[in-house]
Amino acid sequence: MQTLIEADEIQKVVADLGRRIATEYQGEPLTVLGVLTGSIVFLADLIRTIDLPLRVGLIQASSYRGATTRPLELRINDSLVPDIRDRAVLLVDDIFDTGQTLSALIDTIRGSSPRSVRSAVLLWKTGKAKVPIQPDYHCFPIPDRFVVGYGLDYNDDYRHLPFIAALEPKDL
Ligand code: IMP
Ligand code: MG
Repeated sequence: MQTLIEADEIQKVVADLGRRIATEYQGEPLTVLGVLTGSIVFLADLIRTIDLPLRVGLIQASSYRGATTRPLELRINDSLVPDIRDRAVLLVDDIFDTGQTLSALIDTIRGSSPRSVRSAVLLWKTGKAKVPIQPDYHCFPIPDRFVVGYGLDYNDDYRHLPFIAALEPKDL
């Protein structure tokens, strides 16, 4: 495995993002909504750098790729989402790849009549989107490699690593 982004670099850029979010959401009732499970490490670090009153909630998205013609089946569990009516929602996820997960989550969240919905991701595999949206905030653009660490997994392993690493094709 090859380290792509060191732990101290992540901390620096996440803190910059937190300060930017604090400036842009001043005076708004903010709910930060983390997407389980990949966002947990990013969520925990990011919220501690946003110097504003805010609430934290969770939403779960699980996708699996079947062998049939439908390539992506996405399940959303919104039973953990707190009341977000008239609140500014910032959806936090680990990575924007095709964008299908974030796009579906945004549609679901809009159903609860929030004041606004924006997205923040740690990583963005630019150029791979299959939907007409982009993340509103991101920390690092990355090449099209399979990455793990800082919340991201391969078969549920590696989420605890404090840095981002790319797995070699032979490891996949
Ligand atoms: P999307 O819907 O294609 O944008 O994919 C988003 C989800 O796919 C993420 O929340 C991750 O769970 C997973 N994913 C995409 N790329 C990677 C990767 O390189 N490593 C680990 N998980 C990934
Ligand atoms: Mg995920």
